[in-house]
Amino acid sequence: MKHSETEIKEKAREEKVPIIQDGGLTFLLDLIRENNCHRILELGTAVGYSSIEMALLSKEIHIDTVEKEEEMVKEALQNIEEMGLMDQISVHHCPAEEYETEEKYDLIFVDAAKAQYAKYLERFLPNLKEDGMMVFDNMIFHGMIYEVEDLKNRGTKAMVRKIIKFRDAMRNDQRFDIMLYDHIGDGMLVVKRRRS
Ligand SMILES: C[S@@+](CC[C@H](N)C(=O)[O-])C[C@H]1O[C@@H](n2cnc3c(N)ncnc32)[C@H](O)[C@@H]1O
Repeated sequence: MKHSETEIKEKAREEKVPIIQDGGLTFLLDLIRENNCHRILELGTAVGYSSIEMALLSKEIHIDTVEKEEEMVKEALQNIEEMGLMDQISVHHCPAEEYETEEKYDLIFVDAAKAQYAKYLERFLPNLKEDGMMVFDNMIFHGMIYEVEDLKNRGTKAMVRKIIKFRDAMRNDQRFDIMLYDHIGDGMLVVKRRRS
């Protein structure tokens, strides 16, 4: 059966595959439109939903998207093919931290391992165009950053603490201008190089 992007979203939600929230997606798509972004890198493909939505904005957009789980890659490829977007979206099957490219991007959308955000920033900064931007999703992690000390699961607590540490580090990093939107989607962070 052929799927539309709405069906891809609904199926992902039914199967509890984490995908971008509606508010976060609208915000991301507006940023791409307003800044005329054509070359996009995404870390964390899942079933291809956010990639597909970004690619549908314009035929001129090309996306490299990186995913470590084989099952996700297979489903993403199937969805992308059914949407006729194979020429616009390239799926790379590997851990984001190992992805290598010489490409320079207008926008890097970071949505893979939340505890690795600081590492992804440093690793992919050389791949960001001078006036490009990085966008990080899940900056409030379902509101858990506000109640981290009450969290019972040790793994979740450690991960949420890392998100909080990353937020604090970004606020104090003199290399960047940042905008933190806690009220949009699951919390979106936009990072741009500070102009000297
Ligand atoms: C929130 S989902 C991505 C959702 C997708 N961007 C969307 O909105 O449609 C995060 C994905 O990142 C993948 N992931 C987690 N750690 C990763 C890593 N180290 N490298 C690459 N992908 C990773 C997970 O398997 C999962 O599919």
